[in-house]
Amino acid sequence: MKVTVQTPATIANLGCGFDCLGLALPVYNSITLEETVLPGSGIEINIIDEHNQDNVENIPRDKSNIVYKAIELLYNYIGQSPNELKISIKTGIPVARGLGSSASVIVGGLIAANELLGQPADEAVLLSIATEIEGHPDNIAPAILGGVVLSDWEDDGSVVSKKLPWPEDWLITICIPDFELSTGISRSVLPAEVPMKDAVYNLRHSAMFIQAVHTKDEELLKLSLKDKLHQPYRTKLVPGLSQIMENLKHTEGVLGCVLAGAGPSVAVIQNGTNTDNIKEIVSSTWNDMNVNAQIYTLPVEGEGAKIII
Ligand code: HSE
Repeated sequence: MKVTVQTPATIANLGCGFDCLGLALPVYNSITLEETVLPGSGIEINIIDEHNQDNVENIPRDKSNIVYKAIELLYNYIGQSPNELKISIKTGIPVARGLGSSASVIVGGLIAANELLGQPADEAVLLSIATEIEGHPDNIAPAILGGVVLSDWEDDGSVVSKKLPWPEDWLITICIPDFELSTGISRSVLPAEVPMKDAVYNLRHSAMFIQAVHTKDEELLKLSLKDKLHQPYRTKLVPGLSQIMENLKHTEGVLGCVLAGAGPSVAVIQNGTNTDNIKEIVSSTWNDMNVNAQIYTLPVEGEGAKIII
């Protein structure tokens, strides 16, 4: 039996919601899983990058691969171990750009394995296993559920996720630079502790975000997207980030500009007007610093991972 799952890209944090807010985008990876007879270690992992095969050359093809690890946890959950598995990954989501490529393949592998096993795990179990591998739920939850998602990871390992409303005409201009930034490096610059006033700042802004999306309040959304927990520390890792934010501050149509996940991509949240000008401002700011970028304006993807074959 063979199962293929398509999983969307995601943008985590959305400024104020460090490690707890995220949304899905209509850019996809697909994972095909097949129980088959294989010689040797019993696993075969093939990875094809739709843009550039060099991007995926360094991803492990053995049992240390995160997709395999996630699948193994699911088998363990039902008291089994995976035997012989062929995992084929087709990546349309750029790697190490803050677009949830690892969450996407973890989720895709888990959903495919769950299908092969006769669906022993419900959504809550899948969320919890995927988050255990990824380390935070903010990319995992929208990759599974689609849309804009608020998620919480409790001390007992359970994940609580709630889909939030999102106005259809609020679009995301995603700006993907031609350099990579690993989540590990991007997390390593964060302090272990933050000042109480900064924690309270983000608490206030996250609460405003929830109200803004429920009431489609553009002015409140603009206020809410600000952050003091991660972006200020990561700015030094992303050339041009602070200039782009500054240059877009008073641009018509812009509701906010945030680092996508751990970076280095930048997400401009906009109300659907003035799109060409917004793109031009980002690309010329990066051009001046010799950074090339791919820039797309996309709606939020309302659907999460799904079995396509
Ligand atoms: N919330 C995570 C971070 C997302 O900002 O480090 C990265 O995967």
